[in-house]
Amino acid sequence: MERTLSIVKPDGVRKNVIGDVIGRFEKQGLKVVALKMASLSKAEAEGFYAVHSARPFFASLTEFMSSGPVVLMALSGEGAIKKVRDAMGATDPAKAAPGTIRKDLADSIESNIVHGSDAPETAAFEIGYFFNALEIKR
Ligand code: RTP
Ligand code: MG
Repeated sequence: MERTLSIVKPDGVRKNVIGDVIGRFEKQGLKVVALKMASLSKAEAEGFYAVHSARPFFASLTEFMSSGPVVLMALSGEGAIKKVRDAMGATDPAKAAPGTIRKDLADSIESNIVHGSDAPETAAFEIGYFFNALEIKR
């Protein structure tokens, strides 16, 4: 079973779509194995998105990610990383396929509702960044 980390970003919490997003993952057959709400500090958002620290959008991205509460979750299932990425759609909602979370719910390339790990190594880092072993259902 593969694990991945997903986040309902501050815009998703503001728009009342936490249940919608989690429901879409559950419909893919994925199991929620860890779940909590948090308000990230700017420094915590910077640590999470450290791979993007050289990008021009880094300051704006980390400002946005610390602008309100988020919902953090670990999901488990066969092909979990790809299932979540497919359900999310392209980074820019204008380019996302119909029926994806970002096409259906997101406003812009930055306010795009949801995060999903992009590879097994990043998933392991990201789950460990937010959850300790006792918080993950076995
Ligand atoms: P994520 O990491 O949040 O799941 O999104 P992603 O893989 O689809 O996109 P990524 O390239 O990893 O970018 C991370 C987040 O940075 C913001 N972004 N803004 N203004 C821009 O051009 C731009 N590009 C990316 C988005 O919030 C994106 O999800
Ligand atoms: Mg990414």
